[in-house]
Amino acid sequence: MEKYVVHGGGQLKGEVTVSGAKNAAVAILPAVILADSPCIIENVPTSIRDVSIISRILTEIGASVKMLDKSTMEIDPRFVRTPVVPYELARHMRASYYFIGALLGRFNCATVSMPGGCDFGVRPIDQHIKGFEALGASVSLEHGMIDVSAKTLVGNQIYFDMVTVGATMNVMLAAVKAKGLTVIENAAKEPHIVDLANFLNSMGADIMGAGTDVIKIRGVERLKGSTYSIIPDQIEAGTYMVAAAATRGDVLIKNVIPKHLESITAKLIKMGVDVEEYDDSIRVTRNGPLFKTNVKTMPHPGFPTDMQPQITTLLTLAQGTSIVTEGVWDHRFRYVDELRRMGANIQVDGKVAVVEGVGSLTGAPVKATDLRAGAAVLIAAMAADGDTEIEDIYHIERGYEEIDRKLCELGAEIKKVVKPDVEIAKAI
Ligand code: EPU
Repeated sequence: MEKYVVHGGGQLKGEVTVSGAKNAAVAILPAVILADSPCIIENVPTSIRDVSIISRILTEIGASVKMLDKSTMEIDPRFVRTPVVPYELARHMRASYYFIGALLGRFNCATVSMPGGCDFGVRPIDQHIKGFEALGASVSLEHGMIDVSAKTLVGNQIYFDMVTVGATMNVMLAAVKAKGLTVIENAAKEPHIVDLANFLNSMGADIMGAGTDVIKIRGVERLKGSTYSIIPDQIEAGTYMVAAAATRGDVLIKNVIPKHLESITAKLIKMGVDVEEYDDSIRVTRNGPLFKTNVKTMPHPGFPTDMQPQITTLLTLAQGTSIVTEGVWDHRFRYVDELRRMGANIQVDGKVAVVEGVGSLTGAPVKATDLRAGAAVLIAAMAADGDTEIEDIYHIERGYEEIDRKLCELGAEIKKVVKPDVEIAKAI
């Protein structure tokens, strides 16, 4: 089993380049299936596990996938021959559900395994199903597989009961080639929603309003291949911003869209961190103490839930008591036990955490309980006194491209080691 061994206490200094956005890539790559000629997708975070699983699914269903360079993929979807995504591949990641929308748009049917992914409570897909049904599809769930089919997909008005990124993107995928007009109301507004719409429009789709809460999609007959560059990863950038602040560092974070980072920047400034914005980079410097602040996660443009564990970690190093409220997921504080092992003082009651600043953390054996929780304990480990061993780092590597290399280039002391599991002697 691989672990990170982190020697903490140093400052992060220098420059780091952010990769393409994971949560955009996992929708854009399946969307290629809708084209009738090859696509070239640039700025793909190709070395993260979620992207390799999507590439394997694409290959498995008949697409040809070629790496043109480290972050550029050429995908030819012309010979995709089946609307069935095998359970063995799909179950490993939540975002495999984007194959439902994309295959439905292409074949009018899709059979995909129920999704896996990070575990922070019940993760229903009822709104995806509601959307597909509104377009005229019938949906059944059997033996862990979702089966969706329609004679013809016809545009309709869809009002989501809550703001959902996944259902907004999935219905966009299914609706781009449906007959007539689809109107999605109460749509999610995340940067990756806009990115997917821009990509589909570059293939010839007619989508308006992405980035607002009403998205209008007029169905088109065909979509052609295009060349498209994925936006930079908002959460990866935010994670490095917090890491710089936690380690009293001075880091220039390159390949970012500062507008996407505004809610994170605002909180860091409130905590006493210096943030300077440039056209496509952002510099984070911390010289003085950190101050308490309250954070509530919300759909975009609110503070992102995917930055909640990282900012909570930073608040443990601040003066005073802060309150963090999770407004998106039911159980996203499972990592708090790991931070407590490092000396954090955090009380959790349901979706609220009360963080009493402790000034400093100490190294301890911990584990990554999910992707962003893993990033949080890694930040804690870099800021802590002494050594921290982080287990289950596959969670982290599922979504952060070469994070250990990038952080080491900023001066972090992180070693990836393969350690045999210790056998616990059985008491008789
Ligand atoms: N929800 C429903 N029914 C649905 C869909 C969602 O009740 O049919 C609820 C969820 O249970 C949740 C809320 O609506 O309480 C929002 O869920 P959403 O659909 O927006 O989440 P998602 O699409 O499953 C994506 C990201 C997550 C990120 C959330 C919120 C991907 C692959 N995942 O998940 O990212 O937390 O949006 O922004 O895009 C991560 O990257 O670490 C990650 C977990």
